[in-house]
Amino acid sequence: MTDVIPQPRQVTPREGAFFELGPDTGIAAADGTGPTERWLRATLGAATGLPLAPGPGDAGTVRLSLDGDLDAEGYRLVVAPDGVDLAGGSPAGLFWGAQTLRQLLGPDAFRRAPLPGRRWRLPLTCVEDAPRFRWRGLMLDVARHFMPKEGVLRYLDLMAAHKLNVLHFHLTDDQGWRIEIERYPELTGTGSWRARTKYGHRASPLWEDKPHGGFYTQDDIREIVAYAAERHITVVPEIDVPGHSQAAIAAYPELGNTDVVDTASLTVWDTWGVCENVLAPTDGTLRFYEGVFEELLELFPSQFVHVGGDECPKGQWQRSPAAQARISELGLAGEDELQAWFIKHFDRWLTARGRRLIGWDEILEGGLAEGAAVSSWSGYAGGVAAARAGHDVVMCPEQQVYLDHRQAAGEDEPVPIGFVRTLEDVYRFEPVPPELTPEEAAHVLGTQANVWTEVMETQARVDYQVFPRLAAFAEVAWSALPAPDERDFDAFERRMAAHYRRLDALGVAYRPSGGPLPWQRRPGVLGRPIDGPPPNK
Ligand code: ACM
Repeated sequence: MTDVIPQPRQVTPREGAFFELGPDTGIAAADGTGPTERWLRATLGAATGLPLAPGPGDAGTVRLSLDGDLDAEGYRLVVAPDGVDLAGGSPAGLFWGAQTLRQLLGPDAFRRAPLPGRRWRLPLTCVEDAPRFRWRGLMLDVARHFMPKEGVLRYLDLMAAHKLNVLHFHLTDDQGWRIEIERYPELTGTGSWRARTKYGHRASPLWEDKPHGGFYTQDDIREIVAYAAERHITVVPEIDVPGHSQAAIAAYPELGNTDVVDTASLTVWDTWGVCENVLAPTDGTLRFYEGVFEELLELFPSQFVHVGGDECPKGQWQRSPAAQARISELGLAGEDELQAWFIKHFDRWLTARGRRLIGWDEILEGGLAEGAAVSSWSGYAGGVAAARAGHDVVMCPEQQVYLDHRQAAGEDEPVPIGFVRTLEDVYRFEPVPPELTPEEAAHVLGTQANVWTEVMETQARVDYQVFPRLAAFAEVAWSALPAPDERDFDAFERRMAAHYRRLDALGVAYRPSGGPLPWQRRPGVLGRPIDGPPPNK
């Protein structure tokens, strides 16, 4: 029982043996619990082969209800000899409780068809639970390597199983534009694929000499957003501006700094790093991206919309007479303020439409837009500065929770980049910087793990980097853990024994604790020396 991940707040074993689900077990769903009822029947029904018919059952009942006295995302799960009572503080809390129920049934409850002779016994217990943070996120970079829609839906299921509730969807970058925008067909026509791809770190001499690409149609996006919503996951879209934009410029050369580069000859970037080709700070660019964001707002109901804002080299703006004229005309002090002007424009634009802007911590440079929130990636400092200035923050420092970074020091790690961050390191990550006062700390909405995919060419490579560390991350985001040094990593590892079996049943190609399996290695593909700069530098 104690092997639930993320660890619940309180687990009280009850006297007695167990309750067993069988052919005559029913699901009695009170008002407002229908979606979790359907999820339980579809998921546990497939794994167990049991009908889990609606209404009280002759051989016990799973009763679902809402209880306004519980925390909104909290739940109470009581397993008694005659059945299960699962109450949620809201439909979301109920759904997280259903995730716990699935874990209590054992690893085979994570399969999609029943194995012969399995019995579905639940230990008698009372679990009372609620999350520490309201933003428990995973950022997926589908721009560097495209993840087909089926893979994204699978990741939403994996997130739900770990009680994570925000998918930060990094949809555009220098190396690819992945979302259909109806009014600008070349964004995907040209921008969604590249002719070849650097294989390994950008210093690697290897190329994958075949086209790479793909994009989501607007209907694919609607499906992804709806599938996420059924799982109480919010999809926060990211369109990265004004840097990380070479794919867009390749599609529409007028978006670039045409007075200093021949943007008409640019193609979608085929290697990695921080790209010099950034958006021109013109009215035309602003209107173009307003058009992009208009379509985006139709597709994504999320309160927050991510505008990137990271790693925008200022060299072209320094050399461009048009950009310099813009700086003078706006009375700005220089290129940093020009970047802030760009971001502030979209902050006002989004605010006027009832949304909120979020961006990487470079949006602090040159003055943070009013109302903006910060994804603090380059360390804790950006998050600390933003929280102190009264802005909301999501903590995702690259030193701790960039899951593209290697998870062991050994030579066998596939295309090792970035810092060594083990399962234990992630388990000891603390999202709230200790120097914040309680009022400032209240601006920490939560935390997310980020997965950049330069060196992850397949879903199996993504799985390898993400798991098992996402399980440790989920516990950091959900559970009320003590201070990092006091966390009981040994106990977590013991619970992981059961969790590895769940991941096996789900078909997740995680990194085994003993190191990569032979086919998970990439001998001869260059990574980055240990503690060198981050992967894209
Ligand atoms: C980032 O890693 N450039 C946000």
